[in-house]
Amino acid sequence: MSSIKLNINGKEIKLPVIKGTENEHGINITQLRKETGYITLDPGYANTGACVSNITFIDGEKGILRYRGYPIEQLAGKVSFTDTAFLLLNGEFPNISEKNYFSKKLRQHANIHEDMKRFFDGFPLNAHPMATLSSMVTALSAFHPESESEDEEIIELNIIKILAKVKTIAAYSYRKFNGLPFIYPDQELNYVENFLHMMFSDSQEEFHADPVLVDALNLLLILHADHEQNCSTSTVRLAGSSKSNVFGAISSGISALWGPLHGGANQAVIEMLKKIRNDNSDYKKYVQMAKDKKSSFRLMGFGHRVYKNYDPRAKIIKSAADKVLQKLKINDPLLDIAKELEQIALEDEYFVQRGLYPNVDFYSGIIYRAMGIPTNMFTVMFALGRLPGWLAHWKEMLNSPDFKINRPRQIYNGHKKRNLK
Ligand code: ACO
Repeated sequence: MSSIKLNINGKEIKLPVIKGTENEHGINITQLRKETGYITLDPGYANTGACVSNITFIDGEKGILRYRGYPIEQLAGKVSFTDTAFLLLNGEFPNISEKNYFSKKLRQHANIHEDMKRFFDGFPLNAHPMATLSSMVTALSAFHPESESEDEEIIELNIIKILAKVKTIAAYSYRKFNGLPFIYPDQELNYVENFLHMMFSDSQEEFHADPVLVDALNLLLILHADHEQNCSTSTVRLAGSSKSNVFGAISSGISALWGPLHGGANQAVIEMLKKIRNDNSDYKKYVQMAKDKKSSFRLMGFGHRVYKNYDPRAKIIKSAADKVLQKLKINDPLLDIAKELEQIALEDEYFVQRGLYPNVDFYSGIIYRAMGIPTNMFTVMFALGRLPGWLAHWKEMLNSPDFKINRPRQIYNGHKKRNLK
């Protein structure tokens, strides 16, 4: 193992260099404070690796995203979301018997406890579905008290329970909001069909999932399934590192995802596009506002901490949006506005210089809209997709030989000691 020498105040220490399989280099500073008294300071963690992970690889400069080694372009539209979830969680795609078992368990655990249905009555009708989702996921821990067990079988079962039940909670919050009866999951349907069934079925009629919607949703869920150490995944790891139960850790991730700088951007994009349309589609004004440092306005769905080249997920979603709308015979003026806005921004020096491109959230809302999913549920859809990633990272962290409670340090810059008078 190579190392880097660091000289601090005349004291030389050797810091080991960690090299990843894709040739990424990191300096291991775990002994830095012990040996020198210094810590590192990196607000926003842009230069800080919090763990070594085998799950997802991103090269932001080249626009590369791979799950367990598989390029996202090879997975999108070619495999199922549940197979992708299995891959992220276990490292390999399932064989036939693993696939059947996983699918059977997901179907078996899709119902939530009957008493939990009453919880939906306690939320105001206009509650944001992300508020409902994060509360209900925490509440699952009350109904599954074995959630703190470190028994491997129970851990695996809890992972299945979360994957299976969160989509039911999401669909129920939609039904409640719309004054519609809850539709129980159907054991005959696969994961994506079941979600659409619970969302959109008419309780009086047999449900037939539109294959265009099933394929589109399957694609979107896969594209959102993991993205290494983003804000919500790091939150899940941080919360889980106290050995909090898995439902609580995932609920923390849901709350982190909700913010408009992260997963909440998909809702913010559609709201922004609607605003632009109501403002005579004056794109230039909005691009100008985004560049104005006195304004807090940003082009939502643009920019990314890691991708300084095009986000590969956005590329796939953009072309899928065209196809899905065409197949559904929908003409959405917001898609035209989005494309125009992208074009103007990509030719603007401000965006070019800073490497600001559309991210995953820029076009996804256009497809959700076409599917009949309300704008305030877009981030819930993101959460459904991201569950396998959160769970895979949570599991990886607990099994890591380096496992430790996550506890960053700080540089204190407040009052020096003072005494009460
Ligand atoms: N519109 C206008 N300017 C932007 C934008 C934007 N969307 N994004 C970044 N910039 C500018 C910043 O003002 C900054 O300019 P400066 O160097 O002149 O000060 C520069 O680009 C770098 O931006 P930072 O905020 O430092 O980049 P950071 O990596 O911290 O933030 C983020 C990334 C949060 C995604 C940011 O680009 C943003 O706010 N985008 C809009 C919200 C969004 O779409 N979020 C979803 C991200 S994808 C996801 O989480 C699923």
